[in-house]
Amino acid sequence: MHILVTGGAGYIGSHTCVELLNDGYEVIVVDNLSNSSEESLKRVETITGKQIDFHKVDLLDRESLNAVFNTTSIQAVIHFAGLKAVGESISIPLSYYHNNVTGTLILCEIMKSHNVKNMVFSSSATVYGEPKSVPIKEDFPVSAANPYGRSKLMIEDILRDLFVSDNRFNIALLRYFNPVGAHPGGSIGEDPNDIPNNLLPYISQVAVGKLPELSVFGGDYPTPDGTGIRDYIHVMDLAKGHIKALSKLESAPGIVTYNLGTGQGYSVLEMVEAFEKASGKKIPYKIIDRRQGDIAACYADPSLAKIELNWSAEQTMATFVRPPTGHGFFRNTKIRYSAGYIIS
Ligand code: NAD
Ligand code: WQD
Repeated sequence: MHILVTGGAGYIGSHTCVELLNDGYEVIVVDNLSNSSEESLKRVETITGKQIDFHKVDLLDRESLNAVFNTTSIQAVIHFAGLKAVGESISIPLSYYHNNVTGTLILCEIMKSHNVKNMVFSSSATVYGEPKSVPIKEDFPVSAANPYGRSKLMIEDILRDLFVSDNRFNIALLRYFNPVGAHPGGSIGEDPNDIPNNLLPYISQVAVGKLPELSVFGGDYPTPDGTGIRDYIHVMDLAKGHIKALSKLESAPGIVTYNLGTGQGYSVLEMVEAFEKASGKKIPYKIIDRRQGDIAACYADPSLAKIELNWSAEQTMATFVRPPTGHGFFRNTKIRYSAGYIIS
């Protein structure tokens, strides 16, 4: 079975390619490499001993994307490609809408014209906005607080409308909580170019002395220690969720929506403490004002995915913030990983 993976060179995409190849799928990747490098795909090939059919193509380039569909018979698309930085989306909203929404429209039009009707889409827990309670279920109201989140909501709506117009489409909307970690070999992982926006990559850069200290955004939330609570889900578990979603599409379910999270929330200070224990490094931090747009607590009720996909997260915080599991050369820098995070 041939699967087209858009954004397959990126963080979650590359880990999903590993699982796909290990499960015997043929993998075609399109990625414009705007936030990734072809090196990650080479490493996926090394990890799996299998080949990826890679095309450096931008989803906005209709002709080149169409050419990919012309040359291969594709049975399903896993659609990761998109821009994902919340703060940046506020500064350059038009680029975000154009890239994420227009890119998806073009992809869907080409899928339709080639009679490819199965799609797994990377949505996000961000579509729940400020939830009325936790844990969050799939039928909670949706809203968005920034252009990135709105682009995800718009795409969800577009895909729902697409299904209404043609019920031969089968679409899984996967709402990820907070992806963390890396393949246990340590050769692929999260590798932000700039100062990280997300908590764990930030902590890891403090651990190696690249950044002086962590700013904890808010110590006065209505949570046990006053810091924000999130549902950190290991990227290998996420990757497996995509394989389960692909299998689900084979049973022609129509459009389905699943939370991919662990169901367990941890505070910022709990994450810092766990990282310190695992790495043996002190993580200096100071508590500063809340970050605009942040919420107190966000964690999933993942029971629907358990029931309908037979998927649940296997890794816990204890396994994804653990002592080094691998060595690797990443972007020409020799680094040591703690489950994907640089610690020395
Ligand atoms: P990533 O940036 O590592 O991967 C996205 C990939 O898409 C990159 O390789 C990038 O080069 C590519 N891309 C972007 N625009 C493209 C375009 N127009 N044409 C072709 N390729 C393009 O991000 P990720 O963390 O792997 O996220 C994957 C998906 O999951 C994204 O859609 C993201 O919004 C979503 N998501 C991510 C998180 C998270 O915290 N990482 C959480 C929820 C949802
Ligand atoms: C986690 C916790 C911060 C950094 C974001 C997107 C969301 C989704 C996942 C794509 C919060 C605190 C963080 C720091 C801190 N992405 N924090 N200091 O905000 O839950 O979700 O990534 O869909 O859309 O918004 O993740 O890792 O940024 O923050 O104190 O330097 O860590 O306040 O409580 P977030 P995060």
